[in-house]
Amino acid sequence: MKILGISASPRGSKSQTLRLVKAVLDGARSKGCEVELVDLCKLNIEYCNACGICHKKGKCYKKDDFQALYKKLLAADGLVMGSPNYFRSVSAQMKTLIDRMAYAVHCQLLRGKYAVNVATAGGVKNERQVTKYLDEIMLTFGSFVTGSAGTSVRLGFRAMETAERKAFRLGEKLAGDVRARRIYIKQGRIHEETGKYFRQLVDMNKDEWIHEHKFWSRASK
Ligand SMILES: Cc1cc2nc3c(=O)[nH]c(=O)nc-3n(C[C@H](O)[C@H](O)[C@H](O)COP(=O)(O)O)c2cc1C
Repeated sequence: MKILGISASPRGSKSQTLRLVKAVLDGARSKGCEVELVDLCKLNIEYCNACGICHKKGKCYKKDDFQALYKKLLAADGLVMGSPNYFRSVSAQMKTLIDRMAYAVHCQLLRGKYAVNVATAGGVKNERQVTKYLDEIMLTFGSFVTGSAGTSVRLGFRAMETAERKAFRLGEKLAGDVRARRIYIKQGRIHEETGKYFRQLVDMNKDEWIHEHKFWSRASK
């Protein structure tokens, strides 16, 4: 059971979001998972320039740190996505990673995986703007969402400790979900609809998105 944690705060070891990502990983490790932590802001990941080559060829042509991270992401059973709230959304580094995964969303490559999303924010309850966004994105990629946690740093160290404890428990639950291959029925319905949507989209563009079209044709056999 492999769990990959990705923290997208540029504040390095001072990051409160990083603390929450680590707490989820600790929880997962305590239940027997192999865990890895990636500090996204230390990587060199360029913007998606919407060239469409990934749809056509199945991979991005850019030679940067995305390729190695993407490999790890696809090899993981569980993902922990962490971001601070920057202007009511994820940090630019997290958004850049998500944008580079257009092929993965079209082909629903996170199917069968489980995600825990964590966030911190300056304003009270604003962490939810980010966890809600990440929950929706991970579902859209085809992953189940085990749960999410976060806090506002304005509430002080006790609130942070409470969030850390919740994050640890979510890590334990994540391990349990991976082990049991748990099905979340409502989320499964969303996956079905999303899959149908992307399949149709790819079909409509089949002359251009050759690789994606091959992927879906193989999947239906
Ligand atoms: C560029 C920037 C934008 C921010 N925007 C918001 C915001 O819209 N809402 C909010 O509640 N906090 C906002 N904050 C505060 C951060 O979300 C908060 O300090 C967070 O806990 C930082 O996480 P970190 O310790 O992991 O870096 C912003 C901070 C920065 C640097």
